[in-house]
Amino acid sequence: VKVAVLISGTGTNLAALIAYAKEPASCAQIALVISNKSGDVEELRNAARAGIPTRDRSKNFVNHIFSHEKITRKHPFKEYCCTGWQMNFNDAIDQRLATFGMRPTRVVDHKLYGSRSEFDCTIDRVLEEFSVELICLAGFMRILSSAFIRKWNGKILNICPSLLPSVKGGNAHKQVLQAGVKVTGCTVHFVLEEANTGAIILQEPVSVNTDDTEETLLERVKEAECRAFPVALQLVASGVVRLGADGKTCWKQGT
Ligand code: GRF
Repeated sequence: VKVAVLISGTGTNLAALIAYAKEPASCAQIALVISNKSGDVEELRNAARAGIPTRDRSKNFVNHIFSHEKITRKHPFKEYCCTGWQMNFNDAIDQRLATFGMRPTRVVDHKLYGSRSEFDCTIDRVLEEFSVELICLAGFMRILSSAFIRKWNGKILNICPSLLPSVKGGNAHKQVLQAGVKVTGCTVHFVLEEANTGAIILQEPVSVNTDDTEETLLERVKEAECRAFPVALQLVASGVVRLGADGKTCWKQGT
């Protein structure tokens, strides 16, 4: 199953998904990485470098990624999507990357788009271009439009750094510490139109220690995320779990 990973952050979950997808038993193939941030290319370099046999080789190709980045920034992605020559340029880069087992990466900078739907349409076009079948939101900090979510219904997985539905929102670790709860964790769920309400695929609990700070909690929850997300992806990619017509998670009979 061809999977796209969408990111905005540091790419820890992305790295875990890439590592898992390399396992022979994996039903998922990470075919594409999309970031909505062009400023920090660290995660893109990591993504592109994954699978490279030697460091020296990757060094050369990192430079290519950099020039790719510069060009993407100079000629916004919007233009790249519409104009032929830039598409060819990117295809050529992708082919060269593929020779070395590297995966295509794309920057779709939301700041270049007038509206959410324009931005989502571009993401959608890139996903179609790579025949993507499943989408993993691995710290993707943009809310997707209803039209996009409806089109990809049951095909979008998100990771949340808390145990849904108890704790929702961007400052989960702060809420956990303020409430004094003893157990937090992470949740992988199918994305529905309303944020963080999707059907739960998998959760992993994490104990809250008395001396925990937001930072220490973030670190331990992220470790749990890196275990849970690949497992959840495998469950969906292998067909063991799917989103049922009633909007609830549906497990294959006999599993
Ligand atoms: C993760 O904690 C995820 O749950 C949240 O954003 C963070 C992304 O971190 N939605 P990373 O980019 O995987 O390091």
